[in-house]
Amino acid sequence: MSALPPGDPARLASGPEGSRTLRPLVHTVLDALDSGRRARGGPLPAGGPGAVAARVRDAVGDVLPEHGDPDALRTLVHALAEGAADPADPLCAAHLHCPPLAVATAADLAASALNPSLDSWDQAPAASELEALVTRALAHEAGLADAVVTTGGTESNQLALLLARENHGGAVRLVCGANAHHSLPRAAWLLGLPEPVIVPAPAGTVDLAALHDALTELTGSRGSRGSLVVAATAGTTDAGLIDPLPEIAGLCAAHGARLHIDAAHGGGLLFSERHRDKLTGLEAAHTVTLDLHKLGWQPVAAGLLVVRRPRDLDVLHQRADYLNAGDDTEAGLPDLLGRSLRTTRRPDILKIAVTLKTLGRSGLGALVDQVCARAREFADLVHDHPGFELHGRPVISTVLFRPAGATDDAVAVIRRRLLTEGRAVLGRARLDGRLWLKATLLNPETRSEDLAALLKQVEGSIPG
Ligand SMILES: Cc1ncc(COP(=O)(O)O)c(C=O)c1O
Repeated sequence: MSALPPGDPARLASGPEGSRTLRPLVHTVLDALDSGRRARGGPLPAGGPGAVAARVRDAVGDVLPEHGDPDALRTLVHALAEGAADPADPLCAAHLHCPPLAVATAADLAASALNPSLDSWDQAPAASELEALVTRALAHEAGLADAVVTTGGTESNQLALLLARENHGGAVRLVCGANAHHSLPRAAWLLGLPEPVIVPAPAGTVDLAALHDALTELTGSRGSRGSLVVAATAGTTDAGLIDPLPEIAGLCAAHGARLHIDAAHGGGLLFSERHRDKLTGLEAAHTVTLDLHKLGWQPVAAGLLVVRRPRDLDVLHQRADYLNAGDDTEAGLPDLLGRSLRTTRRPDILKIAVTLKTLGRSGLGALVDQVCARAREFADLVHDHPGFELHGRPVISTVLFRPAGATDDAVAVIRRRLLTEGRAVLGRARLDGRLWLKATLLNPETRSEDLAALLKQVEGSIPG
């Protein structure tokens, strides 16, 4: 029995009284989420940054009062919900910012309550086995051998370049498209690699002839095959386009270059029978970035780095006597420290495992199919509207569009107006030298009426 009375705010989330303590708090959280959402009344709070910041400051008051406030949970969850850009609102469609599944969110509560840490077996006996099973299964789904869990696409891309560097004698040069995510050149900078070679991507995907020329020149001039890592993208951030993966894999093989595919966005297509062919070529990569907090409906964080050769991960091996002493490993305790660059690590795999098993491949595939179909429907609406211009048919679930004849400044103003008035959240992307509005449709519950409402909101915000 706890020494603290029931209801005392300092009681624990787990242990014999854990569920009894947590249950009313979960009700408080759910009530505050509802009241906050009602107070917001739309996809994001109206009034812009100043108004939101003032409301938050009011709700918080003294950050660390001398004596605690038993209502802090309700007050702060309400404030966060009232001030949220809510990805579950159909008019919130800017980024690769998905509405999480309830079942995954519930699983995350268990991860928080039990607090396993995946840096040593004695902190996470079952979680470590779960992680091993699920990472391997997801790697096989991508046609590769093993995977490690990361905090998302950025960490996966960093890790991919680190593995490339360490498995190629400590020096490797990144070759990537101008369409690659900024985290790739940034990782090259972080890892002390030479300036990346950026290949043009004028139509939003890597120009194959330019890649061929770049590889020919680089391998010819340095004569050291294997010291290049080409990064292709399966699902670009701006337009959801997929680089020609089999052709890029062929060029890499011909030039002895390593291949990394950043499928942070498009990786979720693997679950869909209808769309998975778009990822043909993924299995040819040495490393693949996946990220289930995008097209996977997971609460952040849910990244993975998948590898073709499990041996490539050996460079992450680390010995720390308090976590994985050699004699403990010899005696049979699993050695987990080499599965990440992090030390303390949340069991993000639990929510992923629960999602995979609850929905199955067909359930997840249906969600993927649904958002892709909604994007095509939205593109049709834009295309058929004389007042708008469509950039192109969506490949995944991103639609780029702009009012016909608008200037770039007008496009930017429309987006900010929608944001500050709390009416819709759209992204922006520069392609073909022009600024476009970006709708990233990741909400499987979005209905046709919502798409029409979204377009109406944009129409109503065009500067007069
Ligand atoms: C293609 C791509 N790669 C990597 C990332 C980075 O992912 P994260 O934000 O999870 O670090 C993104 C983010 O949008 C992305 O679109």
